[in-house]
Amino acid sequence: MNEILKLMNSHTSVRNFKDYPISDETLQELIRAGQSAASSNFIQAYTVIRVNDPEKRKIIAELAGNQSHVEDAPLFLVFVADLERARLSTTLHEEKMVHGQTEAFIISTVDTALMAQNVMLAAESMDLGGVYIGAIRNNPQVVSELLDLPDHTYPLFGMCLGYPDSKNEVKPRLPLEIVLKTDSYQSGNEVELLRNYDETMEAYYEKRTTANRTDNWTRQMARMFSKPLRPHMKDFLESRKLNMR
Ligand SMILES: Cc1cc2nc3c(=O)[nH]c(=O)nc-3n(C[C@H](O)[C@H](O)[C@H](O)COP(=O)(O)O)c2cc1C
Repeated sequence: MNEILKLMNSHTSVRNFKDYPISDETLQELIRAGQSAASSNFIQAYTVIRVNDPEKRKIIAELAGNQSHVEDAPLFLVFVADLERARLSTTLHEEKMVHGQTEAFIISTVDTALMAQNVMLAAESMDLGGVYIGAIRNNPQVVSELLDLPDHTYPLFGMCLGYPDSKNEVKPRLPLEIVLKTDSYQSGNEVELLRNYDETMEAYYEKRTTANRTDNWTRQMARMFSKPLRPHMKDFLESRKLNMR
């Protein structure tokens, strides 16, 4: 296995950081690496906001369900899916943006996620670690106001970064046969593979050194998808002129 594959396979989210700052140079290097990601139609539909203000961090940490690492991490970034520059570009050419297109929403979300994952991987290559914070979407309105986000943008997720103080054991992923198929989705043995994976995950959750518990993957999914997921998101996106049609 080459060094890049080793690095990728050793990913774990990091939530505890050494009290050691990340320099501006390092941040700029990370963002440049993020920008190297492929981008749909080269829209580069993202903006990254570094949140330094302790008061803003505190508010975001709380609305993200009291995730203390949002306050404590040396670096906290908010990744904004951004179609505002595209809108501005249309006005520079006497055109008018067609608002609220589902396709544009998908493009901006995908672009931002690809960029962010490049940032994460670049960080890990520099012995940094981090964790995504999707929970900023618990209250995306407040995050948008705190960061003065214009219409045609929305805060997709945050990311805590820093030098790891401790790390979890690598979490086993779904078996390859479940995520890689040939010619057809249908394989027939999905349930059996999931049951095997549940056993793997049960062993992982029981043995891991931090936050060990009795749980498995399908149970986790059942809990999650049997209730509404941030049902405010549709109205929120509409309020940002990102309604979908
Ligand atoms: C978009 C996204 C949002 C996430 N949001 C959170 C979060 O709000 N808080 C958190 O502790 N972890 C969050 N995570 C981390 C996942 O829980 C984690 O990646 C997953 O459990 C796999 O564990 P690993 O990253 O250690 O391999 C998020 C991950 C992604 C990709």
